[in-house]
Amino acid sequence: MNLSTYETVKNTDANVWFEIAKESDFPKNGGVCIKYKDKQIAVYNFTRKGTWYACQNLCPHKLEMVLSRGMIGDEGGIPKVACPMHKKTFSLESGENLNGDLEAIAVYPVKIEKGIVYVGFSE
Ligand code: FES
Repeated sequence: MNLSTYETVKNTDANVWFEIAKESDFPKNGGVCIKYKDKQIAVYNFTRKGTWYACQNLCPHKLEMVLSRGMIGDEGGIPKVACPMHKKTFSLESGENLNGDLEAIAVYPVKIEKGIVYVGFSE
């Protein structure tokens, strides 16, 4: 469990699209945790906005693997996740800590093709 395992991947830099599951397997407005190599990634189906997001599952506050269980919401148009432990919030677009000065979390691109959800990585 190491913060340096995680680095933001831009959509245009993704060269590996890892298949996760069918769209219909995801809870509405909720997250799941998936494993890709040594990484735990939280993937969110933000049904209210009709969008998908992915970020590291590791909260940088106390290094807990919990962000997939966080509440997702919106702060002034910015989609965010609140850590279930101590409610630190992070932008799901930039990874920035919105209510503190923790380091940003890594975010990853998500794409849907024929009803299947993929997360992008850069190798
Ligand atoms: S561990 Fe996430 S806010 Fe404390």
